[in-house]
Amino acid sequence: MKNRIYIKDLKENIGKEVIIAGWVDVRRDQGKMVFFDMRDMTGKVQAVALPNKTEVIEKAKEIRPEWVLKISGIVNKRPDKNIKEGVLNGEVELEVTGIDVFNKAETSPIDLTTEGYEIGEEHRLKYRYLDLRRTRMQKNIRNRNKVAKLIRDYLIEKENFIEIETPILSKSTAEGARDFIVPSRLDQGKFYALPQAPQQYKQLLMASGMEKYFQMAKCMRDEDLRGDRQPEFTQLDMEMSFVDREDVMSLNENLLIEIVQKLYPEKTIQEIPFPRITYKDAMEKYGNDRPDLRKDKDDKNLLAFCWIIDFPFFEKTDKDNNVGAEGEWTFTHNPFSAAQPEYHEDLLNKKNIPNILTNQYDIVLNGYEIGGGSIRNHQPEALLAVYEIMGVKKEEVEKNLFYMLEAFRSGTPPHGGIAWGFDRLMMLLENEPNIREVMAFPKNGEGKDLMMNSPSELGSKQLKELGIKLEK
Ligand code: AMO
Repeated sequence: MKNRIYIKDLKENIGKEVIIAGWVDVRRDQGKMVFFDMRDMTGKVQAVALPNKTEVIEKAKEIRPEWVLKISGIVNKRPDKNIKEGVLNGEVELEVTGIDVFNKAETSPIDLTTEGYEIGEEHRLKYRYLDLRRTRMQKNIRNRNKVAKLIRDYLIEKENFIEIETPILSKSTAEGARDFIVPSRLDQGKFYALPQAPQQYKQLLMASGMEKYFQMAKCMRDEDLRGDRQPEFTQLDMEMSFVDREDVMSLNENLLIEIVQKLYPEKTIQEIPFPRITYKDAMEKYGNDRPDLRKDKDDKNLLAFCWIIDFPFFEKTDKDNNVGAEGEWTFTHNPFSAAQPEYHEDLLNKKNIPNILTNQYDIVLNGYEIGGGSIRNHQPEALLAVYEIMGVKKEEVEKNLFYMLEAFRSGTPPHGGIAWGFDRLMMLLENEPNIREVMAFPKNGEGKDLMMNSPSELGSKQLKELGIKLEK
């Protein structure tokens, strides 16, 4: 819009007539004068319609919260007694000279002037486009972007990574959860799987000589939901060639420290370097592998990171919960991980199975697992051995994972990586109680999108095209 200025820049224009555009926030009709706050993406300002401007005051009496306006006005310094210290535009107000209405708005079904925690989530999610207007949600979503930008700049400019998009229409990636599947119309009876993580693609990118890959990657997992779990979430996913565990851990530790120090200076990291705890010690001492190490759990600005290392590679199969696991053993984290060097021979010989340790490392923050990764097997026989231990025959692996094995046989460098649960990290940085508060359009606890009403039924024509018959 021509000549529009942002509300945050008003204080640089004292004495001038300017144009702003945005939403009516709150409105206070005082009879002769009308006060209302205007809001745009940069902040709020108090506007005042004075009695000497008849046309303006008439319009100002009509407007309601959430109407969308263009306002022209003179930026006035407030009298000393009305200055609000420490508030954006606390020292100025806008004396309105003209009001144009872009759009009216019905009364909002949810209160947008509060933090919103008191409103039932079913209402907030149904009207998410309104809910996101509240100051707290604007802050969360905008800060999420700031953190993502810092990550991109850091990895690309400083560490020579490139961001590569990997497919969403994919194949099961064996991350341990159930897949969401998409039926193929052109090849009826066949299905794509949505990626649970870009794990195989990123390893194949190492085979491709990309060396340093990352992606803000959408991941889909059909699992039971909790406050820190969504069916669709975002990972900061990365993979590097020619690295060992130390390289991956130190790069990630430095990046996390940089994010906190640059973007959340009010926060303190309890211990640097991050403490490292073996899985065994964590289980013995804390009874779980994501301990909350904060010395003061009431301190909202305390961040206690730690690494958990030395995980067992295999655990006994829990037939009810390990999807697709047939054998006696299953992987604890990732079938693509390498064993620690001293257990490599045991892995190849399928000996000493319960004691084999993997090169897996998890990063934990304030009691949440915010990421995990490992150094991988880059030799085909090691990957085959992992599957054999899990009771999967060689021929079957050759059939299902032929592209991984062929890639490993075609000059794949040693490599390793990690993925962060980006939503979980943002939840903790923003002091939010669940990851839905830092996602623009999350699903509810039953995996539903209450705004668009999905999942939804398909028409019979579409089902027929896909070759799908529904059974009751
Ligand atoms: P993993 O399965 O541990 O590893 O996932 C990495 C991180 O993603 C986050 N996360 C989730 N966040 C929100 N909702 C979910 N449903 C959800 N599931 C996982 C967690 C977790 O630590 N490919 C490997 C990574 C690797 O080895 O490089 C992987 O996906 O914070």
